[in-house]
Amino acid sequence: MRISIFGLGYVGAVSCGCLADLGHEIIGCDVSQAKVDLINAGKPPIVEDGLDVLLQNAIKNKKLRATIDPEDAVRNSEVALVCVGTPSTRSGGVNSVYLETVAAQIGEIVRKLNIPQFVVMTRSTSLPHVHAQMVAILEKTTGRAMGKGIGYVCHPEFLREGIAVEDFYNPPKVVFGATDAVTETLCRRMYPESIKAPTFYVKPDVAAMIKYADNCFHALKVTFGNEIGMMCKVLGVDSHAVMDVFCADQKLNISPKYLKPGFAYGGSCLPKDLRAICDKARETATPVPMLGGMLQSNKDQIDQLIKRVVSESRPKVGVIGLAFKEGTDDVRESPIVACVEVFCGKGHPVKVYDEHLSPQALVGANRSFAFQAVPHLSELMCGKLQEVVDWADVLVVTHRLKPETWAAVKWKSGQRVLDLVNIAGLRAAPGYDGLYW
Ligand SMILES: NC(=O)c1ccc[n+]([C@@H]2O[C@H](COP(=O)([O-])OP(=O)(O)OC[C@H]3O[C@@H](n4cnc5c(N)ncnc54)[C@H](O)[C@@H]3O)[C@@H](O)[C@H]2O)c1
Repeated sequence: MRISIFGLGYVGAVSCGCLADLGHEIIGCDVSQAKVDLINAGKPPIVEDGLDVLLQNAIKNKKLRATIDPEDAVRNSEVALVCVGTPSTRSGGVNSVYLETVAAQIGEIVRKLNIPQFVVMTRSTSLPHVHAQMVAILEKTTGRAMGKGIGYVCHPEFLREGIAVEDFYNPPKVVFGATDAVTETLCRRMYPESIKAPTFYVKPDVAAMIKYADNCFHALKVTFGNEIGMMCKVLGVDSHAVMDVFCADQKLNISPKYLKPGFAYGGSCLPKDLRAICDKARETATPVPMLGGMLQSNKDQIDQLIKRVVSESRPKVGVIGLAFKEGTDDVRESPIVACVEVFCGKGHPVKVYDEHLSPQALVGANRSFAFQAVPHLSELMCGKLQEVVDWADVLVVTHRLKPETWAAVKWKSGQRVLDLVNIAGLRAAPGYDGLYW
């Protein structure tokens, strides 16, 4: 492929060396004459292990050159890889001015030179609305619609500085978010089969958010390790001995478990144990804002759900699943119990269905928690799912139940079905409303 690379910094320079090494014809473009000169001399404008040899070979094999002239770059390529910076604005937002400048430049050149087919692929990190803006700029400047002679791809980059060259050949994943099918076809020609990585073709906004989810998660992991480390230190425990075993658990800890968006956590362990650690942190004046913030964040989840359900018209609320998770009758610190308490307090008629729960069978702490929050719980419980569905204006679904159970349900028209657990079989229900999807 003939690829122009806009921006010859950390991402662009590595892309130049590695894509040329794969056999593509590369033309780098930067506003900095110094960086352009370095690339043309086969020298890396940045420090990155292995890049010097790749650039020297690329220049020697005439697979790479660089220019300061964007018209030269666009004229001699079929796809532009945009790797310009996206620094923070004063408020912390994405400064998209370099991206937008490049999109406008490319669009105008494509129109001026009447290039029949061109694709812009952004590697820079930016939020979904910036990519939408890039698409709008390209459509306006070229006078074409996406898929009709112009295409756009959000192609986030996941390489780590210092080992970026190694990561390029062994990426954790490859993600393409193309605007249309024609453009997606071009993406498939980009990397050879020797680069073995799970490859995902998604929508541009999804591709953009994957990068942010990744980086937020990496920051969370570092912060989590450090806060647990601080607590270990004040308690006189070796944090590495703890985290070595923590990381060895690939079933519950280092795994997809607990990571899919859904409702607040609850139960007899998570809130209690988090409170215990936070209490010890306060007592020892150990700042653990992330661990403490998790208690507040969970409370916010509950408040947000209540706001989405409660209204002045006081709709009848049916709750499907009261225990803190499905497959149990444990209601201790179940977040949905807290919601039921508020729904009742605000005058909403409430009915509850829980396949494993009968108030008469509740004993001990389980019973006292449930009845303390909702003293008339027995009156709200209903033995049949269909009865709750027939009665409610809003259904709040917190448990998955069996697919055949949902398939047998007859929905009421005009009803709202608020799904907190992402049940595939429920999405077709009239009035379906996913919690965060
Ligand atoms: N550095 C990383 O490891 C890394 C990893 C993943 C994603 N990213 C993202 O990739 C993007 C680039 O990061 P970077 O670290 O390579 O940035 P950088 O600042 O090192 O390089 C950006 C380059 O773009 C050039 N540039 C600016 N305007 C231009 C224009 N109109 N035409 C041509 N070139 C222009 C600049 O001169 C500079 O050389 C950012 O969005 C960043 O968040 C970076």
